[in-house]
Amino acid sequence: MSEQQHRHKAGFETRAIHAGYEPDPTTGAVIPPIYATSTYKQDGVGGLRGGYEYSRSANPTRTALEGALAALEEGERGFAFASGLAAEDTLVRATCRPGDHVVLPDDAYGGTFRLFAQVEAPWGIEHTSAAVADVDAVRAAIRPGQTKLVWLETPTNPLLNIGDIEALASVAHDAGALLVVDNTFASPYLQQPLTLGADVIVHSTTKYAGGHSDVVGGALVARDLDLADQLTFHQNAIGAVAGPFDCFLTHRGLKTLGVRMDRHCDNAERVVEFLSSHPAVSEVFYPGIETHPGHAVAARQMRRFGGMVSFRVTGGEEQALRVCERAEVFTLGESLGGVESLIEHPGRMTHASVSGTELEVAADLVRLSVGIETADDLLADLDRALSGG
Ligand SMILES: Cc1ncc(COP(=O)(O)O)c(C=O)c1O
Repeated sequence: MSEQQHRHKAGFETRAIHAGYEPDPTTGAVIPPIYATSTYKQDGVGGLRGGYEYSRSANPTRTALEGALAALEEGERGFAFASGLAAEDTLVRATCRPGDHVVLPDDAYGGTFRLFAQVEAPWGIEHTSAAVADVDAVRAAIRPGQTKLVWLETPTNPLLNIGDIEALASVAHDAGALLVVDNTFASPYLQQPLTLGADVIVHSTTKYAGGHSDVVGGALVARDLDLADQLTFHQNAIGAVAGPFDCFLTHRGLKTLGVRMDRHCDNAERVVEFLSSHPAVSEVFYPGIETHPGHAVAARQMRRFGGMVSFRVTGGEEQALRVCERAEVFTLGESLGGVESLIEHPGRMTHASVSGTELEVAADLVRLSVGIETADDLLADLDRALSGG
């Protein structure tokens, strides 16, 4: 199957397994080898083999992953970075200059907010936070001529709010800004923002894309050639690239993304049903719940509703902390999107960096990354943790 067919015709799982790499012509190796090399022998000065000259600029293991990412997000070109935040910083430097302005989600991932508030702001890039579920609020936060990026997470972290990608793309474009979608929570299996008008995708591939909690990585996927060329330049000029072993691990994870996501969603639905009727739980956040304010938009733009679930407990912060500490199958830890279930207290852990800001989260909130273990074991574990047994 040609690369063209992989990208435009084949189904998602076929692309996940085959796009980006053809079996090695010399050995037939079915899986991209880990090219642990910094440089490449040239056939005479400037005589590059396949365009490779130095591994910051390009490395075949990374090329394979980047091709797969572009195919899954249906974009022009993919870029792999050392972390999600490295990808974000590269994107900002490629698209913004001092004096420019960015609209951020008002419950963005804490590290993204910290990047803008404490790293980009001192370099002259301003930001305003707006609720992603409120298209008018995002439009009102835009400063015509100054806003270069409208940044969207959907679902958001940790409150699982939903932004309407198509509507926000047109709001951004009317103002001459790009719509950036951090697709970490949904993954390209559940949602493909570029097909809905977004301009560029951000991923922490550390999460569902890699899927096994064994590698930190990030990615960008650009929809058009102009932006892709700017990102190609900045990826090399800044140099925050993913190494070949990390690319190998991430690419290996990506191949099973579809089957993993379906099981994450199956298990999350069981967990939501269980929590919704538990007396120690006061509120459950999941876009698959019909009364969730973003349900209709999520049902339109997502294949299913994902593996992330947040909930508030009736007993305040103390109980939230106890639930996190008592759970056993759910491992107490940061991060998300791996095969194992994780539990955390956003206020004290992932979102501690936004404490005291407009992004602060409720102290009685618990976040779950529902893994792919046996669902009954997950429910029994939550029951024990919530009941204090
Ligand atoms: C939604 C989201 N975007 C970006 C990031 C940053 O990615 P990384 O930790 O790989 O730098 C994270 C990390 O938790 C995240 O949850």
